[in-house]
Amino acid sequence: MIVVVLGPPGAGKGTQSDLLASELGLPHLSTGDLLREAIANRTPLGRLAQPYMDRGELVPDDVVIGLIKERLVQARPPDGAILDGFPRTVAQGHALNDMLGELGRRVDWVIYLRAPVEELLERITGRYVCPRCAATYHLRGSPSRTPGVCNLCGTPLQQRPDDRLDVARHRLDVYFEQTAPLIDFYRCQGVLTEIDGEQSIEAVLADEMAALPPNHRKD
Ligand code: AP5
Repeated sequence: MIVVVLGPPGAGKGTQSDLLASELGLPHLSTGDLLREAIANRTPLGRLAQPYMDRGELVPDDVVIGLIKERLVQARPPDGAILDGFPRTVAQGHALNDMLGELGRRVDWVIYLRAPVEELLERITGRYVCPRCAATYHLRGSPSRTPGVCNLCGTPLQQRPDDRLDVARHRLDVYFEQTAPLIDFYRCQGVLTEIDGEQSIEAVLADEMAALPPNHRKD
């Protein structure tokens, strides 16, 4: 099954994609994580992407489409994938349909997580991540045991450069302008499920599992 997790920054795409990946036994593919890994490794892709990401803007379509094509088409995952943060423009949506079409596949299910802007900003600006093991914390919701230090590996936590309030606000503007049109794009294809992302993490997952397309249910 090919699942797309769609929603604004802070809606819980990464959190839910991780949970769904283990529930459904599918690989979790996050363009944000792939780009941050490229930046950390100082690759040419990372050098290209960093200024866009630091400003809270989208990395150009051709770059991200190439990145996903490499992972999705060349790796040919037999059981599918959970795509977190891709597509993020209608052009990327068409490119995904084309590349899946070449494999005789299609997007089977799109989960659209929605939440109010105040909640999104609170989640984004309170998030701290471990640069070593990628564990994520939240100042209010899930703080680390020792403030500023990772529970799992003891590394000092960092705030993502694009999680500062001014950049976070710009990311939301970019989302409404360039990504939100994908909601209708997928609604027209009959594959969209809208989920209330303001609920607890567990309640969101329960709603998703209840909405799983019938031909992909385990029971
Ligand atoms: P990316 O890393 O994908 O960032 P994003 O879409 O802005 O999403 P976030 O990671 O901020 O939030 P999320 O929805 O994953 O929520 P999370 O689960 O982390 O992309 C970063 C950048 O890369 C982009 O700005 C762009 O530059 C570039 N990029 C990536 N993909 C691209 C593409 N396709 N095209 C072009 N450019 C691209 O949760 C957030 C916080 O809330 C966490 O602290 C979490 O613990 C907490 N939380 C989650 N769920 C809940 C809940 N239900 N209740 C309470 N707290 C919760």
